[in-house]
Amino acid sequence: MPLLEVTDLRTYFTTDAGVARAVDGVSLQLEAGETLGIVGESGCGKTVMALSILGLIPSPPGEIVAGSSIRFNGEELLEVKPARLREIRGNEISMIFQEPMTSLNPVLTVGHQIEEVLRLHRGLKRREARAAGVALLAEVGISEPDQRYDSYPHQMSGGMLQRIMIAIALSCEPRLLIADEPTTALDVTIQAQILDLLVSLQQKHGMALLLITHDLGVVAEVCDRVVVMYGGQVVETGTTEEILSHPKHPYTQGLLASLPGIGDRDVRLNPIPGTVPSAVDWPEGCRFRDRCSFAWERCAESEPDLLPVVAGASRSARCWLVHPDESSIDRAGKPT
Ligand SMILES: Nc1ncnc2c1ncn2[C@@H]1O[C@H](COP(=O)(O)OP(=O)(O)O)[C@@H](O)[C@H]1O
Ligand code: SF4
Ligand SMILES: [Mg+2]
Repeated sequence: MPLLEVTDLRTYFTTDAGVARAVDGVSLQLEAGETLGIVGESGCGKTVMALSILGLIPSPPGEIVAGSSIRFNGEELLEVKPARLREIRGNEISMIFQEPMTSLNPVLTVGHQIEEVLRLHRGLKRREARAAGVALLAEVGISEPDQRYDSYPHQMSGGMLQRIMIAIALSCEPRLLIADEPTTALDVTIQAQILDLLVSLQQKHGMALLLITHDLGVVAEVCDRVVVMYGGQVVETGTTEEILSHPKHPYTQGLLASLPGIGDRDVRLNPIPGTVPSAVDWPEGCRFRDRCSFAWERCAESEPDLLPVVAGASRSARCWLVHPDESSIDRAGKPT
């Protein structure tokens, strides 16, 4: 049984402009101890998916559409009572965000904030909590943890704050850590350090890690498997190696082409033309077609399914080029 099993998740928002189909039929699985990367540009539904797993979608305007399922360790999270969900969120699933500063209280010391979590979730007394908190700071690589413990957030750098957030996320010893763009706000050197830290902690604690990023380069460093999202949907999945060496979907190919060459000083970026459409207005047919240089009539006429690239394989893609023979509303034929 997978640790996390998301099936046909649809999370919609009612807005003045219409219904935003932010997450629109996402399925994915994560095994215990595995690292899964979720990659896609801004606006593809990554954060909404993560917040849906945690039960943090505000309703209204948000709604998780009937038929969606999120099973964690066999338990259907979309059906559990709010108290149980809070328990799971505090003890079994933790999340860290892009901006550590916004998740910390500026008027309390970081030690105070770590202690609150330790006392609440591990039932530690004040003394014990301090010792455990200082040990956590040391574990996440903060030097002079005893002094740092009594610092305020504004006295720390972005990288250090992200380490604090990781310490807080780890304090309940979660089975799943969701990291949403955890290094996006940091400079490149610090980014590499934080990724190393996440990987070493993940291995040491045997946690599963769901790493969300717009950067395929980050995924390449850290993840076992990758889910590529576009337009609120999964457009390609596979092992990191498969995805990086033989991307099948034009969107994945575009993400890869826009990466600076690893170790390449003569950086040449080829960004994907255009931008992610609004979630209230996904194109008919293939959602990527207005940006895809391979698009032809069939891409406008019907939406490709996410199907195995080769029968029986774990790798799959959502593109008519990859599945020219699949039945559709009508068979418009292959590109010439
Ligand atoms: N509270 C909200 N109300 C309305 N629309 C929302 C809300 N939150 C997210 N969305 C919509 O969901 C889309 C996907 O957002 P998000 O999950 O944040 O993307 P990503 O994390 O991939 O950048 C956004 O383009 C936005 O239109
Ligand atoms: S289905 Fe068509 S438009 Fe969509 S990615 Fe494939 S070729 Fe491009
Ligand atoms: Mg996001």
